[in-house]
Amino acid sequence: MKNFSIAIDGPAGAGKSTVAKEIAKRLKFIYIDTGAMYRAFGLYYLKNNISLDNEEDVNKYVSQVTIEMENQAGENKLFLNQEDVTKEIRTEEASRGASKVSVYPMVREKMVELQQEMASKNNVVMDGRDIGTVVLPHATLKIYLTASVEVRAERRYKEQTEKGMDVNLDDIKKDIEERDYRDMHRETSPLKQASDAILVDTSSMNKDEVISEILKLCQDRGIEL
Ligand code: DC
Repeated sequence: MKNFSIAIDGPAGAGKSTVAKEIAKRLKFIYIDTGAMYRAFGLYYLKNNISLDNEEDVNKYVSQVTIEMENQAGENKLFLNQEDVTKEIRTEEASRGASKVSVYPMVREKMVELQQEMASKNNVVMDGRDIGTVVLPHATLKIYLTASVEVRAERRYKEQTEKGMDVNLDDIKKDIEERDYRDMHRETSPLKQASDAILVDTSSMNKDEVISEILKLCQDRGIEL
């Protein structure tokens, strides 16, 4: 039997992971956070003091890296060479590492292969930047989730101040604009809306509205709720 797959792409801060996680829970599909995989990959180089600026150096070690995902008590755990790095990948340093390592074709090839293998064995909701365009070109449903830079910056600002962090809204906005530029202008698999993806602009929608719109689209594609 053919598996169902839902691809959710979009820029940083659009709410992809929150939405993808919830959709996966409702449908009892497996949630695959591909950004987390690039973060873990970058972490390997940071931990081993290997520069991420030189493609040849990066390529030399690609075969040494193993990345596995496991769902433990409803929580996705990520293992880098058998070590649990679920928490560590959320640091700013890991985020910068992911952004650097994700430009290299050899790294992307390995990640895409792994992601396609996961989707061939399970019903999945996968979020990232190249899921609808490269990883799952035949996905059952493709969503391009976005929101204005202002709204994304405000959401992140709220999230971080609630955690007690001392942050500046203008700095966050600048950071988001820079990340958008990098993601959309890199040579290999730049972020773009697949021609058959449905655009969902969440600028003036709340989380529940986004979820119910996507669930409706799932039903239209024959996925039972
Ligand atoms: O979504 P995130 O912030 O966890 O992603 C981390 C980095 O990985 C980000 O710079 C974009 C990159 N990425 C990618 O190139 N392709 C994906 N499918 C997912 C993430």
